Formats: sequence, C-alpha cells, structure tokens
Amino acid sequence: MNNQPIGILDSGVGGLTIWNEIVSQLPNESTIYIADSLNCPYGNKDTDQVYNLAKRMMEFLLSKEVKLIVVACNSITVTCIDELRKDFPNTPIVGTVPVVKTAAKISRNKRIGILSTTRTAASTYQKDLIKKHAKDCEVFVHGTDELVPLIEEGKVTGVEIEKILREVMEKFKKEQIDTLALGCSHFPFLEKEIEKILGNDVLLLDSGGAIARQVKRVLEQNNSLAENSTKPHYKFFTTGELVPFKKIVKVIGKDKMTQNVDRISL
Ligand code: DGL
Repeated sequence: MNNQPIGILDSGVGGLTIWNEIVSQLPNESTIYIADSLNCPYGNKDTDQVYNLAKRMMEFLLSKEVKLIVVACNSITVTCIDELRKDFPNTPIVGTVPVVKTAAKISRNKRIGILSTTRTAASTYQKDLIKKHAKDCEVFVHGTDELVPLIEEGKVTGVEIEKILREVMEKFKKEQIDTLALGCSHFPFLEKEIEKILGNDVLLLDSGGAIARQVKRVLEQNNSLAENSTKPHYKFFTTGELVPFKKIVKVIGKDKMTQNVDRISL
C-alpha cells in the first residue's frame, strides 16, 4: 500500500488521454501531471534535446515524491526510455507505444496503419515492435508533426485539423488498411474527426487502456497500490500558457479540474 501519487509526463496535453484511462482504471490513485507545453512539440527535436527535456520533467516529478512515472509520450519513449531507466533506477517507469500487437491480431485483411509523429515513425524502437508483433501484416507508417501544435492550442476539430487529417488519411485509404493504431498520445483527441474521414470500417486503436493496465500490473507487483479508503487528488502542471491547457482539460470533460492547473518553469 502506498498513497504517494503516480507521476505522468508528456511534451504537452496528449498524455491527458492516458491520464484519463489511468484514473478510471485506478480510482484510488492520486496523480501529478506535467506537460512541457512551452517546448512542445518534441516530434521534431533531436535526440539530445528530447532526452534533456524529458530528464527535467522526471526530476520535477521525483521532487514531488511520486511512486511510479508514466512517460505518456511515444516520442520520448522511442528516443530514450532505456536511458531514463538507467538514470532513475529506483523508480518504476512505464512508457507508451502504439498497440501494434493488438492491431496485428484483430486486423482482418492484415493491413494495419500507424499514425505517429515523424520522430516515432522513423524510430528503430517502433520498427522493432512492428517486426516482432506484426510479422504477418503489411504495416503502413505515416508521421506528421503538424497536428500536435494545433491540439496544444485546444483545436481538436475545424478546417485546419480536417485538412491535415484528410491528406494523411487519403494515404491510409489507398493502402486499404482496416486497423489504425495511434502512435502519439495527442491523437486520441482526434478520434471523432478520424472516424468521420475513414468511416466505420477502419478500427481505431489508442494505447491509453493498455498503458493503464500496465501501470496497475506494476503497482500490484510492487505492492504499492493506493489504499481503498483514500480520497485521490489530481494536480496538473504546465510550462506553457494556462488558457489552452485548461481548454483541453475541458475537452476531456473535467471542467472542475481546471482549478488544479498551475504554470511552472523547469
Ligand atoms: N504526445 C507525444 C507523443 O506521444 C508527443 C508529441 C510531440 O511533442 O511531438 O508522441
């Protein structure tokens, strides 16, 4: 039993899609979320920049005495999760990657798509994952860095989003995929828009549920789940402007939690 909070970090608001799953699957757990919105996007940064920025967020969360850290960002996970685990050996770290295994399993025509940032799309980490879990599938990976900055502004619908999505979805349509795995934690905010373009025949998969289950497994193994009787508390920090962050907290239907958001510099 351990009532310390779970720490969750992302380059921005994307990790809130994973936070949402964590708090619904683990309702007794408290959380501290940090978004580096000032430096977002990470998808177009180089390896050293991503590593140094991620390390600062890790240090911030550890200063708040978290018991486990969720790297709710594919761009960080594929770039440096092993280094972060070496740097912080005493803290369990759970990363995020697209659910390639599930996509390969449920695809009927064995043609799956992955939509990520360019950094994640180009990474050997993701390529290895595909080789391991989707041997019997044709996998089509497309990376874009245009969507994340718009989502950071609180834009999850509208002409700009639609134009970018239509361009990339056109490629997936031509490739005749029947399953699309989202390889960026920001993209579940666009699920409705993507469905509008791809239609109901293509199944969309995000990794939030799987990450939350993994968090639960690790806490159980370490015997550090929070006690049933505790009242959880949720705190959010951003290095960027408060207004867009609060706007996106409202998108996930947690209006009341906008009071728990503070701006910090790292
Ligand atoms: N949300 C992030 C991800 O899962 C990062 C987006 C970015 O900063 O480029 O990849």
